[in-house]
Amino acid sequence: MNKKIQNIIKKKNKSKIVSLTAYSRNIAKILDKHCDIVLVGDSMANVLYGQNNTHKMNLANMIQHTISVKKGIKKSLLVVDMPKGSYTNLNLAKKNAKLLMRKTKCDAIKLESNNKNFEIIRSLVKNKIPVMGHIGFTPQFKKKFKIEGDTKKKAEKLLKEAKDIEKAGAFSIVLECLNPKASKLITNNLKIPTIGIGSSNDCDGQILVTDDMLGISGFYPKYVKKYLSLDRIIEKAIKKYTRDVKLKKFPSKKNFLNGSTYR
Ligand code: KIV
Repeated sequence: MNKKIQNIIKKKNKSKIVSLTAYSRNIAKILDKHCDIVLVGDSMANVLYGQNNTHKMNLANMIQHTISVKKGIKKSLLVVDMPKGSYTNLNLAKKNAKLLMRKTKCDAIKLESNNKNFEIIRSLVKNKIPVMGHIGFTPQFKKKFKIEGDTKKKAEKLLKEAKDIEKAGAFSIVLECLNPKASKLITNNLKIPTIGIGSSNDCDGQILVTDDMLGISGFYPKYVKKYLSLDRIIEKAIKKYTRDVKLKKFPSKKNFLNGSTYR
């Protein structure tokens, strides 16, 4: 097993796993210094492409963005989402996951559970493709947002799903928007680490969409902590630039190219 993946598994019950999403090199370079896991999530459909759901993302989109992200990664584990429709049967899943791994040199893929695709996970793992699972609110399969596992029976059903994913060989699992009691139950009953989003701090790690926590996506549900209002900071700079151009303050002599180099 990949050393980076072994290190992620070892963190369970020792130290929290820090994870964020990236869709491009410049952000990935910053995340890589601090994160254990960088995910190229299909949330880019909403965040970058302004779509209403993640359903139109395809393998080519994921590959293109991951090639960019990979250029910024030195040490963290690079995980990539398999887009909707790319793992509907064993052969398709194998073919697409292999292509994704070969073209991007990512460390692992993530796929959403529909409470049925355990054989697909098993087959990918058997083919040396590390898999991260994803349960709870799974945007590829669920239309309406709701908190998952909010009764004892529902929490136990989710635990069974998580255990089946673990048994199939996944090295980790995302718990998205679970009731806190359900996320604790699952975290305490799995050997593999759980990564929570909107699911309580009992999880072994946390993930957020970077654009949300930086305050640039415009999407701030209760579970997102906005660490910055990056939109305002960017706007300030753009305003300054606009003024400089209009007043002919930019470019100034400092920016003129006289010699033979441009740096
Ligand atoms: O697509 C994504 O960014 C994700 C995270 C929210 C876990 O799946």
